[in-house]
Amino acid sequence: MLNHLTGDQLSEFDDTGFLVFEGLFDDDLNQRLKDDVDLMMDDRARGEKKMVMSYDELGALTSEPVVVDRVADLVGGRKFTHYHIHARWRGEGERGVAWHHDYVQIPQTNRSHLMVHVFMYLDGLNGEVGDLLVMPGTHKKVMNGDAFRQFEYDDLPGSLSIDDLAPGSIIIVHSSVQHTRRPKPGGRSFRRYFIDTSYCQDGVRWSSYPNVEAINEVALEKGFDRNGKYAFLYDTSQLYDRLAERERLNAVNEGRPVLKLAKGSPV
Ligand SMILES: [Fe+2]
Repeated sequence: MLNHLTGDQLSEFDDTGFLVFEGLFDDDLNQRLKDDVDLMMDDRARGEKKMVMSYDELGALTSEPVVVDRVADLVGGRKFTHYHIHARWRGEGERGVAWHHDYVQIPQTNRSHLMVHVFMYLDGLNGEVGDLLVMPGTHKKVMNGDAFRQFEYDDLPGSLSIDDLAPGSIIIVHSSVQHTRRPKPGGRSFRRYFIDTSYCQDGVRWSSYPNVEAINEVALEKGFDRNGKYAFLYDTSQLYDRLAERERLNAVNEGRPVLKLAKGSPV
């Protein structure tokens, strides 16, 4: 059952690979998140590096219902887990990030299970510091994450540039959609607040990163499961060791690896 998205939004996501929710966060939530990003950036400036999950508002954001319930609709009511959260603000002179996608899969062979990234712009976008460019539909073409890297931050045929968004806006992106952050001048009085969280559909294993179990423990200790309702987000059993998997792939990755696949091996 759909709770937050319409059928039209679901088909738009299916076609383009992303949905924009302009001004979704109310002022109170938005301000609390900005204050927490400021606190985190001050801590980092002093050399104190704490996990993002340990901050009260940023950690709670990983199970924020207005976000997570939309993701739930996109995965069609199936279960999913939280994968990561990154947060910071960027100011004048920030570098860009060349075209890439973030769908975690070694090797890139299918899109059977959904992974989404949620891009959150607490002060919106105004054409300064950095624009978001996306290439609609690229989630339907299986390709390596760096397949478009040589184009850096260029406009490409069919690409869309997003440089005007209200504060508190979020964009939910299929993680395999190609996108880039194009550096822009300006920003002396504009902080480009940016948080991204990501979520993976259950049913296949996704590659882990070193401290994900500790991060999930902190989430549960701090009550981000919201009395158990969102405990499923912090389950690490869907993850596997990425390095071991890459070694296994390298051992069989010549010619047609499909001919070497063992029948009945676990996904
Ligand atoms: Fe990205």
